[in-house]
Amino acid sequence: MTDASIQPGLTRGADGSTIRTRRKALDLRRRTVFDELMALTDRPTAFLARQLGKPSGAVGRIVGRILNRRNEDVVLAAVDAAGAGADSTVVDIGFGGGVGLRALLAVSDHVHGVEVSTTMIDAARTAFADSIEYGRLTLHEAPMDALPFDDAAVDAIVSTNTIYFIDDLDAAFRETARVLRTGGRFAVGIGDPERMAAMAVTSHGFRLRQPDGVADSLRDAGFTSVDHRTLGTGQHGWHLVVGIR
Ligand SMILES: C[S@@+](CC[C@H](N)C(=O)[O-])C[C@H]1O[C@@H](n2cnc3c(N)ncnc32)[C@H](O)[C@@H]1O
Repeated sequence: MTDASIQPGLTRGADGSTIRTRRKALDLRRRTVFDELMALTDRPTAFLARQLGKPSGAVGRIVGRILNRRNEDVVLAAVDAAGAGADSTVVDIGFGGGVGLRALLAVSDHVHGVEVSTTMIDAARTAFADSIEYGRLTLHEAPMDALPFDDAAVDAIVSTNTIYFIDDLDAAFRETARVLRTGGRFAVGIGDPERMAAMAVTSHGFRLRQPDGVADSLRDAGFTSVDHRTLGTGQHGWHLVVGIR
């Protein structure tokens, strides 16, 4: 039976259960407030994580420029490892701010950029208008696991800081193996997983993989020779895993 002298939600027993119930309610309220505060402070980090995974809008363009500066070392190392020449057909998958496209255009006349972000594609369309007009650069809106190229049509692929956002890496790597000619190279650049795990942003859905696991996935996808090298240390630590088809 309900006791009208007790506030709603509280019960009274001979052993003082009213107080216990009130404490429980307070605890619950405190926890809810704490969770809400945590969610508030976490919101910008979650937003940044989404932007890194698929830059969009005005913020996405700024993110693209930051990525260019921050990731230049590993991007240039990947382009170098891809070993492209002037006649090579080369692809940057997940080109972001476009620093890799610029580096590839310096060595090849047949460059393709593949992206899932329309903002990054639009930014590249403006930044590389001349190369597009001269037919040296073609941009495609597509994911790594559904590439818009015929079998064995490509000589080299680079992809840096992209695989954090890909769940089924084996399927994506099989697709890169499909489009690469025999002897073609695929250079995959990633941040050091331990360094990245310490960054709050990566707790929002990033897939952090060990370089050895990435190398295994390349072998499983059909890459015959796979090489792993490290670049830099600490905050500047990167891994480059290069597969030869
Ligand atoms: C962190 S940024 C890296 C950009 C650039 N490669 C670099 O290293 O600075 C990741 C980029 O990969 C793109 N991306 C994410 N998932 C992708 C996928 N499945 N296929 C192709 N691009 C993807 C995103 O839109 C974003 O521009």
